[in-house]
Amino acid sequence: MTNERTPPAPGTAGESAGESAGPAASGSGPAHRARSVRAAGGEPAAGEPLLVAEGLVKHFPVLGGFPFRRQVGAVRAVDGIDLTVRAGESFGLVGESGCGKSTTGRLLTRLLEPTAGRIRYRGRDITHASRRELAPVRSEIQMIFQDPYSSLNPRQTVGTIIGGPMEINGIDPPGGREHRVRELLETVGLNPEHYNRFPHEFSGGQRQRIGVARALGLEPRLIVADEPVSALDVSIQAQVVNLLQDLRRELGIAFLFIAHDLAVVRHFSQRVAVMYLGRIVEVGDRDAIYRAPRHPYTHALLSAVPEIGTYGAGEEAHGAGGAERRERIRLAGDVPSPVDPPSGCRFRTRCWKARKRCAAEVPPLVRIEGNREGHLTACHFPEEPSTSARTEDIVLDPALAAIEERGAGEPRTGEQS
Ligand SMILES: Nc1ncnc2c1ncn2[C@@H]1O[C@H](COP(=O)(O)OP(=O)(O)OP(=O)(O)O)[C@@H](O)[C@H]1O
Ligand code: SF4
Ligand SMILES: [Mg+2]
Repeated sequence: MTNERTPPAPGTAGESAGESAGPAASGSGPAHRARSVRAAGGEPAAGEPLLVAEGLVKHFPVLGGFPFRRQVGAVRAVDGIDLTVRAGESFGLVGESGCGKSTTGRLLTRLLEPTAGRIRYRGRDITHASRRELAPVRSEIQMIFQDPYSSLNPRQTVGTIIGGPMEINGIDPPGGREHRVRELLETVGLNPEHYNRFPHEFSGGQRQRIGVARALGLEPRLIVADEPVSALDVSIQAQVVNLLQDLRRELGIAFLFIAHDLAVVRHFSQRVAVMYLGRIVEVGDRDAIYRAPRHPYTHALLSAVPEIGTYGAGEEAHGAGGAERRERIRLAGDVPSPVDPPSGCRFRTRCWKARKRCAAEVPPLVRIEGNREGHLTACHFPEEPSTSARTEDIVLDPALAAIEERGAGEPRTGEQS
């Protein structure tokens, strides 16, 4: 595999996702081979920091005035976040609509220029790297977007959609690009014979798979997946999540998995960060976040996730065994405007525990008493772990539950057109 790279054209970041997949899971497929070749060139070991953001800020200017428009404010979409994605891990980013998840993803992939802060990729500062300076690493960080319909050029064949970015990035695989594209189609559970077909000939889930194949063609080390399944039917969602899971396990690709659906994130992610109004309020291992959330906002978010089997109407949901109850917390009021966020703790206008101190002091994101290592919470008056949500029964839907039970080894059926 040749790894010479030339500057990419705009829009060459990967996009959507796919469904099931046999070959990817086998570990003997072409993508696996590509990975092995690259590993010889100095792959960061699994678990080592791959992408690190420090104090990352993105403010979008708000313009006003007449007749001369000038900046009258700023949307503080991302307002000082620190996060680390480690090699080979799946890191989930959750939060309500508008909290800054997509902006974070676009900053980390350098599709947006940060207002402040620092981004390091494999130890190298890429915060303000020019297009030319970014060229050697650009294809290693790919993005998969939510909408499988708008993310593929309707006038291009699948072969061009997947092979074009490889060509632009100077990736010239042994056996040729067409051969490699066909291998990739197989990897994501599509028929290699569909090489000459157009996007409209595929279903939504299949288009997502094409987007995944396109990202894989660039041999990424990190895929930022922004709501990759939220536009799909629930049954297809499970298959797409499963495909991504297989790719992560077999190819060692790290994922930043962005979603507002906590059940999907729980299924896919090893570590999870919770965002609220431009800031991370809690981060930690999946189990710590889902079983012992300490931030009131995390607690409220989790309490709104239905538990399998017995979730019903009303204020409460019952665990599968019915032995424990999880109080459903309804958050009062709307999310404040990111143009003028509350002082101190940004969650204070909706927090049932808010006190004077919460308005005066910004709570730092730190390991508080009772947290396990790596579990950080930004709250002056955190929840007691014992009163927190019991969430071991949270699953996306019965289809995902079935997949989870079935395990990774069993063959899966791809969606065929
Ligand atoms: N280009 C832009 N110009 C101005 N404001 C923007 C821009 N992009 C995003 N915003 C604002 O920044 C805030 C964060 O938006 P972002 O899209 O990152 O949120 P999100 O968490 O991804 O939401 P969703 O779950 O709805 O996708 C929102 O208030 C949004 O309106
Ligand atoms: S700091 Fe105060 S307002 Fe913020 S989450 Fe904690 S208790 Fe609530
Ligand atoms: Mg978004």
